[in-house]
Amino acid sequence: MRWLPDAARQHARFRAGYSVHQRAMHWTILLLCLIQVPTSWAIRRTHLAHPAAEPEPFDLFLHEVHAWSGWLILALALGQLTLRLVFGRPTSHDDGSPLVRWGSVAAHWTLYGLLIALPITGTVAMYVTFRVAPIHSLLSWALLVIVLIHVAAALWHHFYRRDDVLRRMIGGVR
Ligand code: HEM
Ligand code: HEM
Repeated sequence: MRWLPDAARQHARFRAGYSVHQRAMHWTILLLCLIQVPTSWAIRRTHLAHPAAEPEPFDLFLHEVHAWSGWLILALALGQLTLRLVFGRPTSHDDGSPLVRWGSVAAHWTLYGLLIALPITGTVAMYVTFRVAPIHSLLSWALLVIVLIHVAAALWHHFYRRDDVLRRMIGGVR
């Protein structure tokens, strides 16, 4: 690709896999989503405690961690979404049947939608009205379901179809 101008060479390299920034954002979001689960138990513990009981200071700290981790997820998801809209998605030699292609597009957009809706509903539940909490809770279960399908699809690509879909999100493709 020596003959390509710089920008085009970079673009061609990008099309073969996700950039290091995209991969870092993707796996950081996974890590932060894992943090959201035990920290949310602290929120529950505080709210279900007897109204006269003083909240545990450590549980209040976990509240804060849940909120900040959620806002960081929002920032990273918006960053990842921007890169996706600007550069598109890496192409594959074989993108599979239209059903597989549309399934993955639908799952990715649903994931982005949930990653944006969750911090918004969480913030409203925490600072405006707790009446939104059931919606936040429902969305968190929806996220779990879609992520499980997403992980199953990634493993199916890697072990059954033996293509580069998982590798381009782990180490990039040369
Ligand atoms: C993508 C980001 C987020 C994820 C994945 C997430 C996930 C969760 C989960 C799994 C629960 C427990 C739900 C249940 O017990 O049924 C929860 C509860 C809660 N989260 Fe989040 N959360 C996120 C962002 C936020 C943010 C930014 C805030 C506030 C600033 C927040 C505030 C709350 C509150 C107040 C609850 C308690 C709701 C209840 O007890 O029904 N969350 N969250
Ligand atoms: C062990 C867990 C996970 C694995 C193995 C995994 C794997 C992958 C792979 C292989 C891709 C690339 C798909 C492609 O190129 O067509 C991808 C993309 C994506 N993943 Fe995950 N993922 C995991 C967890 C998550 C989590 C927790 C989230 C968010 C909650 C997430 C959100 C996304 C999104 C939004 C994309 C689309 C990126 C784009 O715009 O192209 N993933 N994931």
